[in-house]
Amino acid sequence: VNQLEKMVHPVVQPLSDLLGTWRGEGHGFFPTISSFNYSEELQFSHSPNKPVIAYSQKTWNLKSGQPMHSESGYWRPKPDGTIEVVISQSTGLVEVQKGTYDMKEGVVKLKSELVGNASKVKEITRVFKVENGELSYVVEMATGLTSLQPHLRASLKKL
Ligand code: HEM
Repeated sequence: VNQLEKMVHPVVQPLSDLLGTWRGEGHGFFPTISSFNYSEELQFSHSPNKPVIAYSQKTWNLKSGQPMHSESGYWRPKPDGTIEVVISQSTGLVEVQKGTYDMKEGVVKLKSELVGNASKVKEITRVFKVENGELSYVVEMATGLTSLQPHLRASLKKL
């Protein structure tokens, strides 16, 4: 165990595979919109001995390079395998997510307990997978007009 690893809080330790900067591409779609492709940079970081992971994400239109959606927040894992996540989005929407992590399986599953300041969105789920050095996720949402279904799929590699 090196000096850096020692400084990771014990509740963050199981999720330490996530820590770092990830880059990749995603695909966005929904029944009510035109689909699109994006590039993404995502960062998970921590402060020594704090029981929290800071999360930030930025996206760009894959073709034009124009900035798209961005968001940031905090992941708060508990020793019992549950986790709560707060996220604020560049659109003004805020989320409180609750769920579970199982890093033996490399999976974090989140479901919104609260979606705030949203005109259309009723519910959001996020599933993250870490497998063979790759991070992939699916974001699903429900709106007033549509049931819960995928809006985003992406996969990223650690820099
Ligand atoms: C459309 C929500 C993430 C790009 C939408 C719509 C909603 C929404 C409610 C409109 C759907 C409709 O009119 O029926 C969300 C939520 C997100 C998210 C809750 C995260 C949890 C993203 C990301 C990107 C993105 C990361 C870009 C990389 C778009 C685009 C549209 C769209 C291009 C269609 C154009 C538009 O209506 O503005 N999203 N979105 N979204 N979203 Fe997202």
